[in-house]
Amino acid sequence: MTSDKCKIRLGIVGCGAIGSRIALSVNKELKSKFMISALYDIDATKAKVLAGRFKTRVKVANNIDDLLRHSNLVVEAVNTPATLDIVSRSIKAGKTVLAMSIGRLLGNRSLFALVERSGATLLLPSGAVAGLDAIKAAALVRITSITLTSRKPPSGFLNNPYVQEKKLLSGAIKKDVVLFDGNVKDAVHLFPQNINVAAAVALAAGPRAKLCVRIIASPNLKCNTHEITLSGKFGQITTRSENTICPDNPKTSYLAVLSGIKTLQEFAMNVKVGT
Ligand SMILES: NC(=O)c1ccc[n+]([C@@H]2O[C@H](COP(=O)([O-])OP(=O)(O)OC[C@H]3O[C@@H](n4cnc5c(N)ncnc54)[C@H](O)[C@@H]3O)[C@@H](O)[C@H]2O)c1
Repeated sequence: MTSDKCKIRLGIVGCGAIGSRIALSVNKELKSKFMISALYDIDATKAKVLAGRFKTRVKVANNIDDLLRHSNLVVEAVNTPATLDIVSRSIKAGKTVLAMSIGRLLGNRSLFALVERSGATLLLPSGAVAGLDAIKAAALVRITSITLTSRKPPSGFLNNPYVQEKKLLSGAIKKDVVLFDGNVKDAVHLFPQNINVAAAVALAAGPRAKLCVRIIASPNLKCNTHEITLSGKFGQITTRSENTICPDNPKTSYLAVLSGIKTLQEFAMNVKVGT
């Protein structure tokens, strides 16, 4: 057993579905490498309740700076625009960061420049999609076309202001309705529900690839599906994931939680397979 002094001290920001599941899983499955050292949530009750689930003492931080003092790896799992600030402050403080809300980082050149300058490690999990490893490899020789098609049950879009304004889903629908077909920038702006998946694919494909995003409401679906097709000198690739919904948050795919845990495991082992 590794002594606590040699373990990576993990601080978790956001104790919702993903933050809590990562904390509990790491504490169980990866305890030889990590210790949960601090938790912070804007809703302090959530951090306290989660801290109460550990046998060892876990610091409930009063703010981000307090959490940073107690951690050397920060997991960002918040559901607000605060992501960018949390990630930047953690990097500036010399911490390794696992960022779950990838969509909030897309296009932020100054953050990526800061990561490069500082030599810090920013871990971006594959989240709710499959095949990012192959997309990154394909991008080395140019991707001539790439499309992400996300299908979700209509209920997943009912609160979307764009869908409401355009009356795209008025009444019960019997067959698939294409809600959006366009570029990634407009997709993440109009469909924040899709933001992380689209951003993960766009980052993997690189700035030269022109990612097309199609978002479809599908009345017969019980779960969210994401299909990626791409072609180029490397050949053709198609991937498809059918994601179980995370029981603690219907907006989050269980695969995304697992990808966060797997990324931490690989970081601790210093082994990277297909990321
Ligand atoms: N990479 C992916 O594929 C992927 C997939 C699903 C979700 N996500 C992202 O992960 C994030 C977390 O998802 P979740 O399902 O755990 O959400 P959640 O709503 O269950 O939990 C979010 C938590 O963050 C807390 N919070 C909000 N603002 C905060 C702040 N400024 N500081 C500290 N805590 C704050 C909330 O109180 C809440 O407890 C979301 O941004 C979501 O978009 C990424």
